[in-house]
Amino acid sequence: MPSHTVNVRTAAPLDVIILAAGLGTRMKSGLAKVLHKLDGRPLIAHVCRTAAKLRPRKIYVVVGHQAEQVEAAVEEELGKDGAVFVPQEKQRGTGDAVLAAQNVLANAASTILILSGDVPMVRIETLTSLIETHTDSNSACTILTLRVENPMGYGRVVRDDANIFRKIVEQKDANEDERQIREVNSGIYCFDSEKLFSALKEVQPSNSQNEYYLTDVPSILRSANERVSLSQHPDVREVSGINTRAELAEFENLIRRRTIRGLMLEQGVTFIDPSHAYVSSEAQIGRDCIIHPEVHIEGPSVIGEACEIHQGSRIVNSRIGDRVTVKDHCLIIDSEIANDCAVGPFAHLRMKAKLEERAVVGNFVEVKKSTIGRGTKAMHLSYLGDATIGEQTNIGAGTVTCNYDGKHKHPTIIEDNVRIGSDTMLVAPVTIGRGSVTAAGAVVTEDVPPNTLVAGVPAKVKKKLDEDGK
Ligand code: UD1
Ligand code: CA
Repeated sequence: MPSHTVNVRTAAPLDVIILAAGLGTRMKSGLAKVLHKLDGRPLIAHVCRTAAKLRPRKIYVVVGHQAEQVEAAVEEELGKDGAVFVPQEKQRGTGDAVLAAQNVLANAASTILILSGDVPMVRIETLTSLIETHTDSNSACTILTLRVENPMGYGRVVRDDANIFRKIVEQKDANEDERQIREVNSGIYCFDSEKLFSALKEVQPSNSQNEYYLTDVPSILRSANERVSLSQHPDVREVSGINTRAELAEFENLIRRRTIRGLMLEQGVTFIDPSHAYVSSEAQIGRDCIIHPEVHIEGPSVIGEACEIHQGSRIVNSRIGDRVTVKDHCLIIDSEIANDCAVGPFAHLRMKAKLEERAVVGNFVEVKKSTIGRGTKAMHLSYLGDATIGEQTNIGAGTVTCNYDGKHKHPTIIEDNVRIGSDTMLVAPVTIGRGSVTAAGAVVTEDVPPNTLVAGVPAKVKKKLDEDGK
């Protein structure tokens, strides 16, 4: 269930069709347009998330170009059974795309909301208002329109002398007069399902692109004396589609500025240079954090209060507690850092690396799928993989967990109050007992009991240690 849903007033059950079969030639890309990312997620995922908030009976996604990847992106957003996929083998136009859903929908007796996979920013409130206008006016079709400064590329909405809807004319088919019209079709509509499909049968590809235009349906309905309503939306940006990479970058910039502004004004986060910070709209950052330039915070990352994230660090899908310092140029992915830790500069945490309170991971240290206990320090030049490290332990410079034997990964366990000497190789699987010490350059191939000093290659027991580690 999406986090925030609405109840929308409809005459019949609501079904949503999302058109996402096109390649998007103006992107000049090998990747289908709806798979290009905005704010870290594919365009189609944005549309799906918004559609799901309406709690429709079903969401249908028309797929064609790179159908498998598009389906995967939809499933990632909505879950396995979140949408029904409708294949459109050849992309013969938006009308043909909707027609592909005929078998499943023609007799559904539903209110159909049509969305485009390339209009990612449309808000739930806008859709609710469109659907309710449609319901309350008892229309066969309601079109969301826009008044734009530059209507280039859009279908123009032609009204008659009484200001009543007559037809939509595509850019390429419009005459000189029609091209002057600045009210345009957003590509978002509501239809009565039975009327939609009966009118679609009459659509012909008799236009300059030889395509079946969905935009011919409203005028066909109008000729049949059905009611077609227009709902003009004031926010052009919100419902304009992305057709080029330049538009994609513009939207990215817009979302980012909005996100960072919200963090500054509402959450009390300091950005040293807001125009050079990159924060996902899904991320949360606590009060009194300081974010330096060129920091990236991606995915639904959570950062607590009073943290300082220095220049050039990237934090992806991670949780960070309070008062954590991340020094310059760290990469932190799918990891967790507790309160009062320090990381970096140049540290790499990944695959569920976990730092417990006051742990310190320093210069050029990589931590993979490992837990570093409270107050434990690994300050310099180490690889710690598949390791569980206790509290108040020190990991000397250059320590390596040799976790891979060429076939399998093995665990390393280092207990509390251990001192691992510089350049120690821990040949896993291996356990270092509490209070033990390894000498510089030791190659540890066997378990070390508690309170024991080992040294050499391979490491041998040198002596038992007392409580003070002497
Ligand atoms: C469409 C509208 C235009 C409107 C504009 C708003 C038509 C004929 N024109 O034009 O009036 O102003 O959107 O953005 O509908 N698609 C398919 N199968 C196809 C063709 C397209 O699934 O055979 C999908 C595309 O992947 C895309 C959406 O439909 O998600 C819109 O198609 P696009 O080619 O971008 O239409 P526009 O030319 O922008
Ligand atoms: Ca488009």
